[in-house]
Amino acid sequence: MKLMKKHILSAMMAMFLAPAAFAAGEAAYIENVDFPFDGPFGTYDVNQLQRGLQIYTEVCAACHGLQYVALRTLADESGPNLPENQMRAYAEQFEVFDADLDDFRPATPADHFPGSNLENAPDLSLMAKGRAGFHGPYGLGINQFFKGIGGAEYIAALLHSYTGEEREQAGVTLYENTVFPGGWIAMGPPLSDDIVEFADGHSADVKSMSEDVAAFLMWTAEPKLAARKQAGFAGVVFLTLLSVLLYLTNKRLWARVKHKD
Ligand code: HEC
Repeated sequence: MKLMKKHILSAMMAMFLAPAAFAAGEAAYIENVDFPFDGPFGTYDVNQLQRGLQIYTEVCAACHGLQYVALRTLADESGPNLPENQMRAYAEQFEVFDADLDDFRPATPADHFPGSNLENAPDLSLMAKGRAGFHGPYGLGINQFFKGIGGAEYIAALLHSYTGEEREQAGVTLYENTVFPGGWIAMGPPLSDDIVEFADGHSADVKSMSEDVAAFLMWTAEPKLAARKQAGFAGVVFLTLLSVLLYLTNKRLWARVKHKD
């Protein structure tokens, strides 16, 4: 009996202590970013997507692929909206292996971006949907209800949360990053101030580049975001109207029964 009590007590202690331990060790605090695509009416900012594409191309593409993204979608109006000829020229810089020709040829708009160049660098096509920036409180996910899942926020935070510490482990260099689970990531800090130069003179500090490339990766993961939100809005309007009509119909049908006199 005494043992039981002790068990119950320690189980209760664990219940109270566990969330606190989780908050301290596992999920790092991730800053909410006011992305233009947030909220029920948010849409992508074309200029931001174009800057993100440039950062991806000049920096991230050295290691990471985007193998699920078709090159033609770069001309989509709801995406980076590149002019047709620019999109074609962009596609041609990649070489793809053509099984029919049994040789390499320049990519066309019908092809996809190449896969990752570096074996242990994950493909980034769906990364913004594969990570969550916001958790809790206490595993309930209420934060996500208000702020969104936070995949783009996670990527942005990851890129500017290096501490500068490195260490060698089993022949691999690991870099300390306060946002990466476990705290040590095998990717060196990819961004540094003015590593790219934007045609429109937009600032290229690490923080704003992190957000731009994160926004671009949100688009690759969810290119139809605006259409989805529009359909959702139309659905809500329709259901609201339907509810009003049903309510009135209901009143009318029962009117005779309710006012017998
Ligand atoms: C020199 C190669 C290299 C470059 C350049 C590079 N990365 Fe990485 N990246 C990696 C490697 C390797 C990993 C896997 C790290 C790990 O799992 O420890 C990684 C992992 C990631 C992850 C996944 C983190 C996670 O939660 O699993 C993201 C997101 C990412 N990189 C984004 C980027 C972006 C955005 C850029 C461009 C600004 C970039 N990377 C540039 C090598 C690179």
